[in-house]
Amino acid sequence: MDIAAPEETSRQAVHRAAALLRSGKLVAFPTETVYGLGADATDDRAVAAIFEAKARPSFNPLIVHVADPDAADAIAEWSELADRLAVRFWPGPLTLILRRRPESSISKLVSAGGDTLALRAPSHPLAAALLHQVELPIAAPSANRSGRISPTTADHVRHDLGDRVDLVLDGGACPVGVESTVLDITADQPVLLRPGGVARAEVEAVIGRPLAAPPAAAGSELRSPGRLESHYAPRHPLRLNARDVRADEALLAFGPGPLSGARVTVNLSSTGDLTEAAANLFSMLHDLDRQEIAGIAAMPIPATGLGEAICDRLMRAAAP
Ligand code: TXA
Ligand code: MG
Repeated sequence: MDIAAPEETSRQAVHRAAALLRSGKLVAFPTETVYGLGADATDDRAVAAIFEAKARPSFNPLIVHVADPDAADAIAEWSELADRLAVRFWPGPLTLILRRRPESSISKLVSAGGDTLALRAPSHPLAAALLHQVELPIAAPSANRSGRISPTTADHVRHDLGDRVDLVLDGGACPVGVESTVLDITADQPVLLRPGGVARAEVEAVIGRPLAAPPAAAGSELRSPGRLESHYAPRHPLRLNARDVRADEALLAFGPGPLSGARVTVNLSSTGDLTEAAANLFSMLHDLDRQEIAGIAAMPIPATGLGEAICDRLMRAAAP
């Protein structure tokens, strides 16, 4: 694996990354949410290499990253609602599930054989520059091995994927820190498949009605297979809504009154700011993963705004 050299300007690095993507290689790049493991979405072999590098089950489809709504419209059936949502949230952390166009150039592996596509236009300047430069739709799941904690720094990618990726574009820490909100708008009633970087209430304000929750367990795994229970798994056991902490545990605190007595304490946000907490979440979990502790105790976090995505990820990280 190659980390773009420090003396290389980001423009040169983006050119190199685009050339690698065009030749079917894997490039990890920063987005505003987490680092993505990118490949040319129209190239079956390149897309297969993503699944292999992540050891990702082939039934779990990938998000396709595009530069703008026009690029989305070329591969999926765009709609009036898609347009309203894109005007408000693109570029940014909202992924839209749309019907695939029958003549779509996107590899069938991307959609795991299904007839829909997940699309988003990222706002991170390096991701946006890369998409403009490469002029291809880029399939990119989070750049971690399947089931592990998502990466929010180039270092996380390097530790987890090593030589399985041809180049990592280093853009520093991802500002949002949790993955995009995934919204299925293929049916009359939009469905929130994954809470993420755009809060539920913000989406509801645009669509003008409350969002339906995904259909119960078994069904939701079919609609968005990424909602498998155990995910974001740290090495140490994680317990949620802790009201006390043991001396051999690490404390993942939230707010101005952290519990005392832990071996190690980190605070997602000492002011109780959910945006700050989201930005810190994965990188604090990565750090705690490297400590010699018996487990991690996480203090309660309100499930409002970005807190819904944080609670969702913690719940999955705590699942056996
Ligand atoms: O913020 C993000 O979304 C990051 C960055 C890199 O863009 N990407 C990301 O990808 O989180 P990934 O693969 O880790 O998660 C994609 C989620 C999965 O839960 C997957 O099942 C779901 O989106 N998904 C992808 N295509 C879908 C489709 N056609 N229908 C329903 N769900 C889909
Ligand atoms: Mg992921």
